[in-house]
Amino acid sequence: MRTIDWTPADAGGNAVIALIDQTLLPGELKVLQIHTVDQLIDAIHRLAVRGAPALGIAGAMGAALAFQNGDDHTARAEAQRLRDARPTAVNLAWGVDQAVARFADGLDAVIETALQIRDDDVLSSHAMASRGLELLQELLPDKIESGLNLLTICNTGALAAVERGTALAVIEEVFLQGHLRNVVACETRPLFQGARLTAWELDKMGAPHQTIVDSAANFLMARGEIDAVLVGADRITANGDAANKIGTFSLALGAQFAGIPFLVVAPESTIDVHTATGSSITIEDRGTDEVVVINGRRMSPVATTSINPAFDVTPAELITAIVTEKRVIRPSAGQFPSDAIVTERLATARP
Ligand code: MRU
Repeated sequence: MRTIDWTPADAGGNAVIALIDQTLLPGELKVLQIHTVDQLIDAIHRLAVRGAPALGIAGAMGAALAFQNGDDHTARAEAQRLRDARPTAVNLAWGVDQAVARFADGLDAVIETALQIRDDDVLSSHAMASRGLELLQELLPDKIESGLNLLTICNTGALAAVERGTALAVIEEVFLQGHLRNVVACETRPLFQGARLTAWELDKMGAPHQTIVDSAANFLMARGEIDAVLVGADRITANGDAANKIGTFSLALGAQFAGIPFLVVAPESTIDVHTATGSSITIEDRGTDEVVVINGRRMSPVATTSINPAFDVTPAELITAIVTEKRVIRPSAGQFPSDAIVTERLATARP
C-alpha cells in the first residue's frame, strides 16, 4: 500500500488525499482522508505524514486540493501556507511550487503534475536502491559476500516516500539480494521514527534488525560492529552539506572515526542548489514537550525547557557519497551536487 496517494473525485464529489497516519504506527495502521489544506497542514505539523519525499508529494497534492477547492487567488494563498508548514525539507516547497506552476493550465494539469511527482518518486526509489547496492559492492567488496551490518537513523523507507524510500530502500535491496547480515536502527529521539517506523518496515520485510538508543551508535561503530551508515536527507546544499534528522551529524563523525562509509541517499528533489551551504538552512525547532514528555509522563521539572532541533547539518567533507536516482556524488572526494544536471532540472521546473 502507498504511504500517500490521490483518490480521484467520484461523481459530483471532490478528490481527496489518502495518507497513512504515521503517529499511530506500529500499533495501528490507519489511513487519513485529507479534504482540505488545513487538514493537510495539521497532518504535516503532527508528523502524520513526514519524510522529505513524502512531504514533496504532499505539497504537490495539497496545492492541487487548494486549486480544486478555491479560486486562483485563494489557492495561491493556501499553497503558500502549505509551503511554510515545515521549513527544513526542501521537497515540501519544491512539490508545492511544481503544482502551482501549472495553475494557469487548469485543474487537470495541476493534478497531472502531482501524480507525475508521485510516480517519479516510485521510480526514483527503485533507482536509488540499485545504485546504492552497487556502491556498497564497490566500497565494501570484501565484506559484502559475508553480509553487511548497516546502521541507519530516523525513517527513510516507504513511509517517508510513496513506496520503498531512500536509504532504507538501499538496505531493502541489500537484503533482497542476500547481502544483509543485520540492520541497526537508531531509535531517533524524541519521536522514535527509528524504533517505531523503521523497525516496523524492517519487521514487515523480514529483515534482521535491532534498535538502539541513539547514543550507542558511535560506540558500536568504534567496536567494529557496523560496516556502513546509510541516512536520508531533508536538504542538500550546493556544496554537498546535508540536513537530516538530529543525530545524523554525530553518526558521520562516528563513521569517520571508525573508518567506514557514510552514505546519504536522497532524490534529486532534495538537492537545493540555490542554497550555498548548510549554515543557511532553516532548522525546525519543535519545542519542549516532545523532549520532556514521554507517553504522557513529564520526565523533567515543570520549569525545565528544551532545545529541540529536529535536524542537524552534516558537513560535506564527512559524506563519503550522496546517492540519487541519477548519480553518485562524492563530496569527500571533491565532487559537488551543483553541477549541470541539477541546474538544468531546476531551471525548467521553477516558475
Ligand atoms: O521529522 P521527520 O520524521 O520528517 O524527519 C525525516 C528525516 O529526517 C528523514 O531522514 C529524511 O526526511 C529523509 S526521508 C527519506
